[in-house]
Amino acid sequence: MRLTDCHNIDDFRALARQRLPWPVFDYIDGAADDELTKARNTAAFADVDLVPNVLAGVAAIDPSVTIMGRKSALPLILSPTALQRVFHWEGERAVARAAEKFGLWCGISSLATVSIEEIGALTSGPKLFQLYVHKDKGLNRSMIERCQAAKFDALALTVDTIVSGKRERCARSGFTSPPRFTPASALSYALKPRWALDYLLREKFALPNLDTHVAAGTGEAASIAGYFNTMLDQSMTWATAEQIRNDWGGTFCLKGVMSAADARRAVEIGADAIMISNHGGRQLDGSRAPFDALPEIVDAVGGEIEIICDGGVRRGTHVLKSLAAGASCASGGRLYLYALAAAGQAGVERAIALLKDEIERGMKLMGVTGVDQLTRDRLRRR
Ligand code: FNR
Ligand code: LAC
Repeated sequence: MRLTDCHNIDDFRALARQRLPWPVFDYIDGAADDELTKARNTAAFADVDLVPNVLAGVAAIDPSVTIMGRKSALPLILSPTALQRVFHWEGERAVARAAEKFGLWCGISSLATVSIEEIGALTSGPKLFQLYVHKDKGLNRSMIERCQAAKFDALALTVDTIVSGKRERCARSGFTSPPRFTPASALSYALKPRWALDYLLREKFALPNLDTHVAAGTGEAASIAGYFNTMLDQSMTWATAEQIRNDWGGTFCLKGVMSAADARRAVEIGADAIMISNHGGRQLDGSRAPFDALPEIVDAVGGEIEIICDGGVRRGTHVLKSLAAGASCASGGRLYLYALAAAGQAGVERAIALLKDEIERGMKLMGVTGVDQLTRDRLRRR
C-alpha cells in the first residue's frame, strides 16, 4: 500500500499500521477502557442525515471561516497532539507546514517534540498552543511566556486530563515517552526497520517545551498515564483557568468542555472559544460524543463563544454536520496523525487535500455557497 492508494482517512490508518511498530500505532489509535466513546465519536455523525437543497447555483463556493480571530480556509482545525516526531521523523514541522500551505490552524501540544520558538519561526499560519497545567508553576509560566514571545495566536487549556484515562493498549504494550527498547518491545521495532532507523538515526527525541523543567518524558522514559498522574495539577479549578487566561492575555480556548453548564462558565471567565471534546475517547470512556453534545451547548452559549466540535471527524460531511448543528468549525487529531505516520508532510497534505475536496463537494451537493448557510434545518435525526 502506498500514499497514492490512500483515498480516505481509514486508508491512511491502514498505511500507518503497516509502517509503525504496534506500540506506537496503538498509542495513536487507542483510547480508554472499552473504547466506546472513541467509536461513538465517529458513529454519532451517522445518526443524523443531511438535507440537501438543489438548483442553488454552486459554481463558486467559499468554505472559509474566521476562527479565533484568524481566517481559516476550511472550517477545520488540526488539534494539538503529543509526540509527533515519534510517529514520523518530520513530526510537528510537517504538520505546521502542511497546515500553513492549506491555510488551516494547527495545534502544538505541551508535549510537542519541536519547540515553541521553532514553530513560531516556521509558520505565519494560525497556530494555537495547548497547555497542560503542571504542578510546577514555573513551568506553566515559562510555556505561556514562550508562546507570547513566539506570537502564538491562541492558547488552549486542556481540562479533560485531570488524571489519565485507562488506556489498556498502552498498558499492554508498555509504550513510553520516549519509546523504550525493552526485550519485550524490541521485536515490534525490529519488524519496522524503516521506522526504527529514522527514530534512531535522525534528530534525538526531545520534549523541548518541558525539558528545561522536568526530566520525565524526555530524560527518563515515562508512560503517558504516569506522566499525567504525577506531573499535572489535579487541584486545578475554574479560578486556575481564569488566572491562566489573564496571564496569557490573548485569545483563549478551553479544550475538553462537554456540558452546557461548563460552557456557560467558560463564557463567564472570558474564554473566546471552547473545544467540545472528550480527548478522542482517550480519557473518560462512556462520555458523550462531541457531536451529540453540540445541540444543548449551542442552545446554552451559541453566539456568545466560538464552539469547536473536536473528535471523531473522518469525513468532509462530518465537518458539514458539525457546522449545521451549530459549531463554528470542527477539529481532529487522528484525521492527520495517521497520515503523518504514513508519509510525513506529503501524507498530511494529502489527508487535508482529501478532506478539502470532500468538504467542497459536500457543500455543492448540499446546495450551499458559504458555510453560514449550513443551519439546523439541514439536519434530521433518524
Ligand atoms: C491527542 N490529543 C491531545 N490533546 C491535548 O490537549 N494535548 C495533547 O498532547 C494531545 N495528544 C494527543 C495524542 C494523540 C496520539 C491523540 C490521538 C490525541 C487529543 C486531540 O487534541 C483531540 O482532542 C483528539 O485527537 C480528537 O479526536 P480524534 O480527532 O482523534 O478522533
Ligand atoms: C494523549 C495526550 C498526551 O492523549 O494528551 O496521549
